[in-house]
Amino acid sequence: MKSITALSIASEIFPLIKTGGLADVAGALPAALQANDVAVTTLIPGYPAVLGGIEAPQPVYGFDDLFGGTARVLSARCDDLDLLVLDAPHLYARPGNPYVGVDGKDWPDNAMRFAALAKVGAAIGQGLLPTYAPDVLHAHDWQAGLVPAYLKYSGRPVPKTIFTIHNLAYQGQFPADLLGKLGLPQRAFAMDGVEYYGTIGYLKAGLQLSDRITTVSPSYAMEIQGPEAGMGLDGLLRLRGTKLSGILNGIDTDVWNPANDALIAATYDIESIGARARNKQAVQARFGLSHDTGGVLYGVISRLSWQKGLDLLLEALPALVGSGDQLALLGAGDAPLEAAFSDAARKYPGQVGVVIGYDEALAHQVQAGADALLVPSRFEPCGLTQLCALRYGAVPVVARVGGLADTVVDANEMATATGVATGVQFTPVTAQALIKALAKTHALFADHAAWRNLQINGMTTDVSWKNPAQHYAKLYRDLVAER
Ligand code: ADP
Ligand code: GLC
Repeated sequence: MKSITALSIASEIFPLIKTGGLADVAGALPAALQANDVAVTTLIPGYPAVLGGIEAPQPVYGFDDLFGGTARVLSARCDDLDLLVLDAPHLYARPGNPYVGVDGKDWPDNAMRFAALAKVGAAIGQGLLPTYAPDVLHAHDWQAGLVPAYLKYSGRPVPKTIFTIHNLAYQGQFPADLLGKLGLPQRAFAMDGVEYYGTIGYLKAGLQLSDRITTVSPSYAMEIQGPEAGMGLDGLLRLRGTKLSGILNGIDTDVWNPANDALIAATYDIESIGARARNKQAVQARFGLSHDTGGVLYGVISRLSWQKGLDLLLEALPALVGSGDQLALLGAGDAPLEAAFSDAARKYPGQVGVVIGYDEALAHQVQAGADALLVPSRFEPCGLTQLCALRYGAVPVVARVGGLADTVVDANEMATATGVATGVQFTPVTAQALIKALAKTHALFADHAAWRNLQINGMTTDVSWKNPAQHYAKLYRDLVAER
């Protein structure tokens, strides 16, 4: 098989910089593609955390003026990742997260910060670097949405492009009068270009102008072609429907492996699954929960945003607590949700424990110690925590939407009779349906044999990147063949 080179363009990558699942995907997919003869290099912005974490940086290109400052492209590595880092101090050398400052507000120049990423990605695709010519460009989310726009309006030969939607809710819309500053011609500001309801739409540009669109689960690929999940873009997605497909995410099964996870209290596999009890105790201790209650310990590891439906969990809490069950929530995000969960922890001492913050190690501990992992999302392009939960024997209890619907087999009568269930799904996404799902989970937990089956089915589910990477590799090859 001929090997292929792909340039992935992303605004975050694990383990260097992460705010959500995009970083996990960008960080893990390259190794899985390598096994399919696809060599991936990833272009990322040179945030302080990136420049501080890379190995062997080598300057390979210099810009005298990239949107108002000098910039360099560095070739570098991080573990097994091949990276190109866009070192542009006037755009990226600042504290806070990739998108928002310490005041919690979007950086005012985000339009230029991520246009620069896309512009440089496109230029590399067109031969900017003498020794590197990728066969395909793979752009992720709105931050890389202008990649195919810069290609199209450059008037030079263009490589094939894939645009992946990780989340349609973040659309990257900026004022129309930035067009000239972005270096895009007036004709780009059209319905079949970057124009989006009178603004410049970065996500829209990616959807409109890329050769293929993927999103991170087959169900989400269907859902976003309808008005409810389409978030204003369903019409365009329907138009481009033949170019759109859903490829499920995987997880890095080396990073997430309960058999040798150095971050958890006791390692285990299916044979030694009883050792989870020690991890449960560790989680109870860390979250200030009582020991040995005999109830279900639910875990939540999540951004606290409307998407994740955790306000419904707040409504369901009296029922959860009333059944004698417990909750350990690790999350950060919207201030009102942070406050409401902290209040709940005070209201239900010993039964509700909350850690506000972002803590990678604690996420592993919750997966290893919780009996069940709750994901009540209103929409979920794929979701990764339920995949980690399957691998760790924490039974996922999920809303039947997007990737959650595609990755968890509901313990309905048929699936239970045939012995294939891995979790509990509920629909519609309401507090009432969630409360019913909690009651069902409570009953399943009380039936030791049934519960053990769910855990073992989950732990033997293939949640790795092996299958998804084959789909991406095929897509890349199809595109190369079309050139
Ligand atoms: P999203 O990308 O929408 O946030 P995903 O489920 O795809 O949702 O990915 C979330 C990733 O971020 C997972 O790897 C999860 O473990 C991690 N994560 C989310 N919140 C936290 C947190 N508070 N602390 C540690 N890890 C978190
Ligand atoms: C997004 C989605 C999530 C998905 C992740 C990685 O942040 O919200 O569902 O798993 O991207 O693709």
